[in-house]
Amino acid sequence: MSDLRAAYWRLLRLTEDYFDGQTRGERRYAVPELPAPAPAPARQPAAGAARGALPARPAANGETLSRVAGEVAACRLCRLCEGRTNAVPGEGVPNPAVMVIGEGPGAVEDRSGRPFVGPAGRYLDRWLAAIELDRRRNCFIANVVKCRPPGNRDPNPDEVAACMPYLARQIDLLRPRALLAVGRVAADRLLGVARPLAAHRAGRYEHRGRPLFVTYHPSAVLRDPSLRAPVWEDLRKLRAFLDGA
Ligand code: URA
Repeated sequence: MSDLRAAYWRLLRLTEDYFDGQTRGERRYAVPELPAPAPAPARQPAAGAARGALPARPAANGETLSRVAGEVAACRLCRLCEGRTNAVPGEGVPNPAVMVIGEGPGAVEDRSGRPFVGPAGRYLDRWLAAIELDRRRNCFIANVVKCRPPGNRDPNPDEVAACMPYLARQIDLLRPRALLAVGRVAADRLLGVARPLAAHRAGRYEHRGRPLFVTYHPSAVLRDPSLRAPVWEDLRKLRAFLDGA
């Protein structure tokens, strides 16, 4: 009986790995050695911070992340509100090293109200861990639109236009050391120009006064493993920037 149970769990793990794009024990994409992990910061995020219930730390104008999250939850500025189960304002720590910006919530995120928690999100967490980043310790994760576009289509320009002010307010409150746009949609919207992701990767950018790094979307890399090498290059660039290199 216990053999059967072990086989069952193994099958579940293999299935999960399959959808994550890697096989356990046989890593097809070897993550090169990274510098020794940075010591854990003295200031830990407040309880609940990782779920977006961030401590009220008002800016000079009284603005807080909780207020932005509350407005997002009640937002009816575009048609995406009609199909949502939950709006997904974002989650992470205040004053993060990196703010990751994706396209918009998928089905799992819509159900949970949390960003990047499906297969692409688990893969993203592994990328971040490879460069000593973690949404519970030193990152904030958000999207250009906060409600799920039906059928995971790209958000329309009017939907992005309605939603971007929330992201702008989050960036200004969080003051991350760097932004990381994942995927063409996020990069196009933050850079204000529509180009293939490969073209975006070539440049150096700022958005709202923050250095902006660009890489592929984890879903794209799950579909096309040949993108792993460029992603690793981008992540190393980001790490080098954070290390002051
Ligand atoms: N893809 C995104 O771009 N954002 C999410 O939150 C989840 C999947």
